[in-house]
Amino acid sequence: MHVLDAHELYRFFHIGDDETAALRGVSLHVSAGEIVAVTGPSGSGKSTLLACLTGLDEPDGGHVEVAGMRLTRRSQASRARLRAAHFGILVQSGNLFPHLTVEDNVRFQMLLAGKLAGKLDEKRVASLLDSVGLGARARAFPTELSGGETARAGLAAALACDPPILVADEPTAEVDRDTESGLIVHFEARREAGLATLLATHSRALAQRADRVVRLKDGRVDNG
Ligand SMILES: Nc1ncnc2c1ncn2[C@@H]1O[C@H](COP(=O)(O)OP(=O)(O)OP(=O)(O)O)[C@@H](O)[C@H]1O
Ligand SMILES: [Mg+2]
Repeated sequence: MHVLDAHELYRFFHIGDDETAALRGVSLHVSAGEIVAVTGPSGSGKSTLLACLTGLDEPDGGHVEVAGMRLTRRSQASRARLRAAHFGILVQSGNLFPHLTVEDNVRFQMLLAGKLAGKLDEKRVASLLDSVGLGARARAFPTELSGGETARAGLAAALACDPPILVADEPTAEVDRDTESGLIVHFEARREAGLATLLATHSRALAQRADRVVRLKDGRVDNG
């Protein structure tokens, strides 16, 4: 069953007289228990696609369905509700609340997801941070982290409530190979649990572990 469907997405950006066609008719689907990697050169439209798929941005044409429900052309509030129910999201920057420590960012995501049965699952907070290699940095603030640590902290926050669909933009952009392998274990555990994972990545190692690779070129799916 498809948990995420994109039909013929178009997105244009205008700066002055210049028009960029960031997406030119991209269709894509992701099933439960599947890891899909979106690859392609810088500027090919990966982040734009992910933003449209999660309702953070509105496509100029086409539509997105999540779990069979249309996400596109709904109010901000309805999109936010659908997003909270279905997605964990890692964007390229700005995933963490700067005034909260790493562990409080994770706790806050758990709170937002409303999955609290009275008390926070502190063990889960700690094990999540350990599993992304940030156990020792739990009390650090985002400004005190390296680029790779920031990405992993954002990923821990996105994973905090086991979202049915994880959409992660360059989750291993600034990490070494060992750390990347550790993160791949996470994505594979999601597959085992029947959860869907969509990753935009430049990493060949990560793309190789995906069930499917969708390659973008100039805003189109490159079948060549
Ligand atoms: N808000 C915006 N305003 C104007 N142009 C934009 C905007 N966002 C993206 N673009 C343009 O749209 C195209 C696709 O950008 P996008 O960020 O989706 O690429 P990408 O594949 O994610 O690249 P990277 O691998 O560098 O992250 C690029 O030409 C980019 O300059
Ligand atoms: Mg990008």
